[in-house]
Amino acid sequence: MPPGILRSVMSFDPENYRKDFPILGRVIHGDRPLVYLDNAASTQRPRQVLESIVDTYENHYANVHRGIHQLAQDADDRYEAAREKVRAFLGAAALEEIIFTSGTTGGINLVARCWGDANLREGDEILLTEMEHHSNLVPWQQLAARTGAVLRHIPLTDDGRLQLDALEELLGKKTKIVAFAAVSNVLGTIAPAKEIIRRAHEVGAVALVDGAQSVPHQKTDVAELDCDFLALSGHKMLGPTGIGVLYGKRELLAAMPPFLGGGSMIKEVHLDHFSPGELPGKFEAGTPPIVPAIALGAAIDYLAGVGLEAIQRHERQLTIRAHEVLGRVAGVRIWGPAPERKAGIVSFTMDRIHAHDVAQLLDRQGIAVRAGHHCAMPLHARFGVSATVRASFYFYNTLEEVEKLGEALEQLKDVFRPRKKVAK
Ligand code: ALA
Repeated sequence: MPPGILRSVMSFDPENYRKDFPILGRVIHGDRPLVYLDNAASTQRPRQVLESIVDTYENHYANVHRGIHQLAQDADDRYEAAREKVRAFLGAAALEEIIFTSGTTGGINLVARCWGDANLREGDEILLTEMEHHSNLVPWQQLAARTGAVLRHIPLTDDGRLQLDALEELLGKKTKIVAFAAVSNVLGTIAPAKEIIRRAHEVGAVALVDGAQSVPHQKTDVAELDCDFLALSGHKMLGPTGIGVLYGKRELLAAMPPFLGGGSMIKEVHLDHFSPGELPGKFEAGTPPIVPAIALGAAIDYLAGVGLEAIQRHERQLTIRAHEVLGRVAGVRIWGPAPERKAGIVSFTMDRIHAHDVAQLLDRQGIAVRAGHHCAMPLHARFGVSATVRASFYFYNTLEEVEKLGEALEQLKDVFRPRKKVAK
């Protein structure tokens, strides 16, 4: 490892950031310091983001894109400045390519409805993967039901990697769209996004990236990826809930009909017809999530200050340590690839103890994890389990917290140890 990289690995100290997150100082069940390992479900917010929300409501709030008055222009400027922050953060070419949505689910549904309905016919193929979140399965199932298109899936290896050699057979001239998660929300698997996108383009298909679990944790450059669409959620990257982003290539978005109809998305309205407005407003009907969008801008400022490369390196350390400590607990099985092939998500099962019981007992120690199918039932079916326990990290997590997880699992295993029958 070059000395510069070594220094930055050594010098990353989550404590420098934890002090910005009031909630991380909480105790649970009276006296247990919170160990928050449920970041794939939703991250926490630093003071800077919370202050942005209060500051906007206290000093700069009005509706956007409607008012002549000073306050409305102030709100407009801030809302559009947030769009510019997102554009720069993702490396998009133009502001018109950045649509504010309600979240990743909203973005994918927008594409499935507007691009999908306009471009898919009976027999066309939609290529997904076996590791998708329901939000990147159900909208395409609905589209297939409307159009007669056919769903296909890139299979997984037993250690949770995408079987890219299957692309040879799966991709063809019938394939119209390839939609996949850049990082699995269950296994942490990092998809070879650039290669999948290139292969999709070779057969003339468009490529959509579900960036919900990747954009908050690793540098994302849509120009370098050359993806056609990318959807993300603000609440998984320090922002508020109710705000997300859909990136789309300008020519694709321009050719798509609008999604929701209403105010702001029109050029002209008559009693019996309308003409749609310009991008990006065409896809932002109604009063948008103004304050959440501005706060997402503050979250992006914060993330840029921490550095996405540093975040990814630190999370890799946490993941390696998690594999080590969980690997020492008898009866624990980790699902998904080796740490070097995954992001900071570690899902596991324990012999004889249901995932929900594990999560509940960890909670008693102040450790917050998620248990269940994590909105990925087909993935769990693929591995023959109904539920897993998921620990998911962010840059504010510490190696000590990972150790605590291991210690808590050791104790829990002892609680559930089968007792020897005592002869009477
Ligand atoms: N998509 C979120 C998760 O994986 C909610 O937990």
